[in-house]
Amino acid sequence: MTRPTALVTGASRGIGVALAREFAGAGHDLILTARDAGELARLAADLSAETGVVATAIAGDLAAADGPGRLAADIAAKGLGVDVLVNNAGFGDAAAFAASDRDKQLGMIDLNVRALVELTHIYWPTILAAGPRGGLLNVASTSAFQPGPMMAIYFASKAFVLSFTEALWEEARGSGARVSCLCPGPTESDFRLRAGTDRTRLADAGAPMPAAVVAREAYDGFAANRRVVVTGARNKAMATLAPLLPRTLVLGAVRGMMAPRGGGGTAAARRLTRDVDSPPVSPIL
Ligand SMILES: NC(=O)c1ccc[n+]([C@@H]2O[C@H](COP(=O)([O-])OP(=O)(O)OC[C@H]3O[C@@H](n4cnc5c(N)ncnc54)[C@H](OP(=O)(O)O)[C@@H]3O)[C@@H](O)[C@H]2O)c1
Repeated sequence: MTRPTALVTGASRGIGVALAREFAGAGHDLILTARDAGELARLAADLSAETGVVATAIAGDLAAADGPGRLAADIAAKGLGVDVLVNNAGFGDAAAFAASDRDKQLGMIDLNVRALVELTHIYWPTILAAGPRGGLLNVASTSAFQPGPMMAIYFASKAFVLSFTEALWEEARGSGARVSCLCPGPTESDFRLRAGTDRTRLADAGAPMPAAVVAREAYDGFAANRRVVVTGARNKAMATLAPLLPRTLVLGAVRGMMAPRGGGGTAAARRLTRDVDSPPVSPIL
């Protein structure tokens, strides 16, 4: 029996690297993609040497309009198939909507939502046909459980991913294929520097989880076909609580959490907010 093949997006750093390691450890051949060809090639070589799986690196920009289609064409041209799709690539941008960069907000939708949907649509038939060898693991966030003032598009994009994935979990019922939505809270990676959340009070709300721990919980949940996998006890509690609390309370709490650390007067801090003075409340991201 050949090994199933898992396509992991965003596999050049952070959670994607850790997820690739988990799937390799569990006996999957890998297709790794992100924009950074050098990092991908290094990881592919390391994982092949460590685990004996076949790891193929294909670099590309998934936020480009033709990105997902081009990736699928490259995969087909190499004679590879996809049994498991791990839609992990994504980014955030901490900014008041009025002060935000329009292209960046739209780029977030292109990557976090559009590319994820397109890749899922391309590979869904083969995932279902693969039965118990097949699966879909979409990476959302604990930010999927409530709206996110001062990071509105990111939170909304992750709410989309959660809703979409739960629907597909139901549609896959009976096929044997597994479907899970991973919802990590703050996790060690380049995310917070790239998103600017390192400048917010969120950064003071507790230590981020190691990416390897997040990936282990993700893989275990996926293997058990758990519809939603929230990593860490505190994140699970917040994800359970947030939808039950009055919305205005939650909106205020998130807004307070996204306020600049220490009330700094930098241009970057002013981009975030001008008038929020509430304490950090929850470790939502
Ligand atoms: N870290 C957290 O606290 C946290 C919490 C909740 C959810 N998440 C989610 O977890 C996922 C992984 O994030 P991370 O924390 O590992 O962040 P990260 O370290 O910044 O990694 C993001 C990955 O996405 C790839 N990527 C970004 N833009 C891309 C593009 N246009 N085309 C293709 N690949 C692209 C990056 O590779 P290149 O730059 O090489 O393209 C990188 O491999 C994201 O969906 C994020 O929203 C993270």
